[in-house]
Amino acid sequence: MIKADLSGAMAFIDERELSPGEGRKLLDGLYGGHIGREGAGWLKLPVDYGDRVSDDIKKAAGRITGDSAALVVIGIGGSYLGARAAIDFIKSPNYNLLSKKTPDIYFVGNNLSGDYLEQVIALIGGRDFSVNYISKSGSTIEPSIAFRVFKNLLTARYGADGAKKRIYVTTDPGKGKLRSLADREGYQSFPIPGDVGGRYSVLSAVGLLPAAAAGINIDDMMAGAREMMEKSEADALKYASLRQALYRRGKKIELLCCFEPCFHYAGEWWKQLFGESEGKNGKGIFPAYTDFTTDLHSLGQYIQEGERTLMETFVTIDTARSKLRIPTDGDLDDGLNKLSGREILTVNNAASKAVKQAHLDGGVPVMELHVPDVSARSFGALVQFFEIACAVSALLMKVNPFDQPGVEAYKKNLYANLGLQ
Ligand code: PA5
Repeated sequence: MIKADLSGAMAFIDERELSPGEGRKLLDGLYGGHIGREGAGWLKLPVDYGDRVSDDIKKAAGRITGDSAALVVIGIGGSYLGARAAIDFIKSPNYNLLSKKTPDIYFVGNNLSGDYLEQVIALIGGRDFSVNYISKSGSTIEPSIAFRVFKNLLTARYGADGAKKRIYVTTDPGKGKLRSLADREGYQSFPIPGDVGGRYSVLSAVGLLPAAAAGINIDDMMAGAREMMEKSEADALKYASLRQALYRRGKKIELLCCFEPCFHYAGEWWKQLFGESEGKNGKGIFPAYTDFTTDLHSLGQYIQEGERTLMETFVTIDTARSKLRIPTDGDLDDGLNKLSGREILTVNNAASKAVKQAHLDGGVPVMELHVPDVSARSFGALVQFFEIACAVSALLMKVNPFDQPGVEAYKKNLYANLGLQ
């Protein structure tokens, strides 16, 4: 289960600045529908997303595995990062290179690069493929352009009717451009409930269909999220209120850090979740993600001695999969042969402790979240943990966690530049 060790950061505040009771009240308000009714549907996903939807997802994933060597997942922001995070975390950042029975998964529509699209087309080559087009609004420019490219390719390869059978759509069940397209064309579609916004949608078909296609047990993912709600809610509330207390003390940037590369995209997902939920009305903790120890060799100096506006949250994965040990090498006289025979994990754990202490000594409050392992269950738990913490944290600073009005500004300019308005 997810556990928060917040002791390292407590020295930076006065305990009376924490407001666990207030956080609880806000969360109860979200559960009860008195607060954020328009966007709090994700709270219920682990409990009532429904057997029917998850059966449909599993069947579609089975069909994709049966007829496709590749699945192209088209989406951006909340319609992209969660699925990618799940596959990296639970399977591997090198998922596509593994020998496996499930299809390769390519994520497109998350940028506007023609080079990138052409490279994915070349990687798919002559292999059979299907498409999962994910967009709540159905009018986001990046995925909309990518869909045109891959729909064209499908039609050229399988004919119009054959293409339709290979297009799976995930969108709003009742409205939007993609909803009408799916209905008109007869694409199989999956719902993103109206009261679940993009960045809170991982545990809907948005994340579940690509995850199931990659062979991930989605029931375990949902079970992990439910278990989190039973056992770790108090920790999520403490984390939310501590980061707010630190923010009021001038810690305006939060670095989320993990010592396992499989967490990288979970970090990217977390950035979007917190950035879009909190950064408004001239307020908000700036969320940044750092891969450790990698980024200690680039940002380490700043974290240790730069402006003291940072707080850190370490995600510690308690059990690693690998038992790889360090071999002896008599040719190397770097003094490290003393480590021969030890698991690399012990060095990684030692590094984590050393970094935490150094950063605390350097004036950076460090919070630590423990995750048992890299299972589907742990991933589901992490998602629910961060979503709860994020919504409550935003509400604590009187910001609406469920809108993102600022995202429209660049889109308006882009449409104007392209003469689309
Ligand atoms: O969290 C959000 O609402 C956004 O990041 C969206 O997920 C992103 O802009 C993509 O939107 P859509 O799913 O409508 O294409």
